[in-house]
Amino acid sequence: TPIPSPDLKTCGRATISDGPLVPYTCCPPPMPTNFDTIPYYKFPSMTKLRIRPPAHAVDEEYIAKYNLAISRMKDLDKTDPLNPLGFKQQANIHCAYCNGAYIIGGKELQVHNSWLFFPFHRWYLYFYERILGKLIDDPTFALPYWNWDHPKGMRLPPMFDREGTSIYDERRNQQVRNGTVMDLGSFGDKVQTTQLQLMSNNLTLMYRQMVTNAPCPLLFFGAPYVLGNNVEAPGTIENIPHIPVHIWAGTVRGSTFPNGDTSYGEDMGNFYSAGLDPVFYCHHGNVDRMWNEWKAIGGKRRDLSEKDWLNSEFFFYDENKKPYRVKVRDCLDAKKMGYDYAPMPTPWRNFKP
Ligand code: C2O
Repeated sequence: TPIPSPDLKTCGRATISDGPLVPYTCCPPPMPTNFDTIPYYKFPSMTKLRIRPPAHAVDEEYIAKYNLAISRMKDLDKTDPLNPLGFKQQANIHCAYCNGAYIIGGKELQVHNSWLFFPFHRWYLYFYERILGKLIDDPTFALPYWNWDHPKGMRLPPMFDREGTSIYDERRNQQVRNGTVMDLGSFGDKVQTTQLQLMSNNLTLMYRQMVTNAPCPLLFFGAPYVLGNNVEAPGTIENIPHIPVHIWAGTVRGSTFPNGDTSYGEDMGNFYSAGLDPVFYCHHGNVDRMWNEWKAIGGKRRDLSEKDWLNSEFFFYDENKKPYRVKVRDCLDAKKMGYDYAPMPTPWRNFKP
């Protein structure tokens, strides 16, 4: 049986991953309608694809627009805290779906470590992007993607490193600033090596995760997750580099914040708080792009055909504050959803170890 959309009525307290209860509710605000009558989402008609640009290469005009959209979203937190389009409410979606707020089939719903990972995050970004576009009255607005699979993108995209702007996040590891090159394979420890070596290791790692270790769908998408049975095994890319990038960008677990609180990796390094860093959606843009790139390699690299996957459901609020159910089967083709990625070369394809 596929995983049905969680029911808002059953939403309860969430727990910080490897920590105490989340000190606030991350359940979505009350619905304008009865949950059982939430309609299925239909794609609005569109005239032009939204093209997501690589984050390291955008111009000042784009950066200004993006910051404006995020600051309007943040304003909603103050003027209208129960608005589902607000910045915190949007971050809470991740918390509710990943930190045990919903019970489904007698178990806590978890959209990570399984084949729900790619489709959930695709739908999540889809609505997030449309909300931002609506807030600045630009339906062509497209989120940036953090091009960490290319040497030019293997650092925090510079636009996120400007203190005082709305896409800056104080709860980021200070070590990731000023152009530090990232290690896509690290779960926290640092190896002493040159930037050049690090980049070349990253490309080899990308080849391994995209090609060698993911010759067929289940290895790429992750283990099946059906009602009542979740074996919790992530796909290759979800595991690495997706998790290392989260850990890298978040504060160091166990360190202390200026107010005396202990860090659980916030923001990026914990499910409940990851969506509070705007770079989260940029990171997931590239994760999502890897889904397309993986299929483009060919061989047996295709979407899963299991009905339990295709018919799994989530629910989201659209940019008009209307709740909708969505199915995995409707998110397999990004272009049909109205967006695509500005192409960038994929040099890792030549980095066979
Ligand atoms: Cu839902 Cu990158 O995590």
